Amino acid sequence: MIIPAVTPNATYDFADEVRHGLSRRGQKELPSKYLYDEVGSALFEVISYLPEYGLTRADERLLRRYAGEIVDRVPAPVAVAELGSGSGKKTRWLLEELCRRQRTSYYPVEISRSALDMCERELRDIDAISIVGFEREYLDGLSEVTTYRQKNQRLLVLFLGSTIGNFDRPAGVKFLADVRRILDPGDFLLLGTDLEKPAEQLVRAYDDELGVTAAFNLNLLARINRELGANFDLSQFAHVARINRKARSVEMHLESRRLQRVKIPAARVTIEFQEGETIWTESSHKYSAMEMFKTAREAGFRCEAQWIDAEWPFAENLLVAA
Ligand SMILES: C[S@@+](CC[C@H](N)C(=O)[O-])C[C@H]1O[C@@H](n2cnc3c(N)ncnc32)[C@H](O)[C@@H]1O
Repeated sequence: MIIPAVTPNATYDFADEVRHGLSRRGQKELPSKYLYDEVGSALFEVISYLPEYGLTRADERLLRRYAGEIVDRVPAPVAVAELGSGSGKKTRWLLEELCRRQRTSYYPVEISRSALDMCERELRDIDAISIVGFEREYLDGLSEVTTYRQKNQRLLVLFLGSTIGNFDRPAGVKFLADVRRILDPGDFLLLGTDLEKPAEQLVRAYDDELGVTAAFNLNLLARINRELGANFDLSQFAHVARINRKARSVEMHLESRRLQRVKIPAARVTIEFQEGETIWTESSHKYSAMEMFKTAREAGFRCEAQWIDAEWPFAENLLVAA
């Protein structure tokens, strides 16, 4: 079952955020959550198979190998919520392990309706599972999930794929603290974090040879054309992945190939782009294994266990709400 979005103003909000982000003085920006419409969610699935993008496979290796250990640490009865589940493919390992022990309610929370549909199709064959998906932003969805939990039931929240890396470090701590406030003491958060690696490897991961990540990024302009009636000429923007050493992140930008003006009727603006000017669309922050212990404490959690993939440095961190 999917609880659909309750956002009659969705187009208006999108238009508002596009106008705001592109009219800024200095660096133009668009929120990364808008990368995920039907096309974007499908392209993200393809990215997870690219040889250059080892992140999803590392996350999956850890979940497959340690699902039993992770589940052993979370006392039953437990319900599972997942923030930004995407297709939910690698979540199968955990859910199968849990469902062998108890009937399990699984609540994916997704901004992308098509990701939620994929997720339900992907996991509904697991024995002893019940799936209720929420087409919501992370915190709104999680708050709603808590109204479904039964007495004495613990919540295991999953935030996989290093999606936390889309927040800058202070915003990441604030987000985790907001999650903590929604939870009860003794609830769990399994947090995937991509670890630091050489700059060339990271640039390749976010600018693959086939151009799938470029298409994923450019689709944001195509989406603005489709939904807000804009006239972006996609051939006049280039996908760029760049390292921000100070922030310890990889940034995705869309760079204007020439001086140009773009009309966005539903946002009631015309935006001018200089040659070489960029729109910043996403950041992926990278972590050291140790820093998650401190980050967890600052957000009101305790890091109870951590598993690290040796092939593609990536950590699965099991946090307990203090
Ligand atoms: C980087 S993908 C990760 C997907 C999956 N968890 C994985 O590890 O492969 C981020 C997912 O979060 C969803 N998402 C992004 N921003 C969101 C928001 N503000 N609220 C809810 N979901 C969001 C996207 O639709 C996307 O499916």
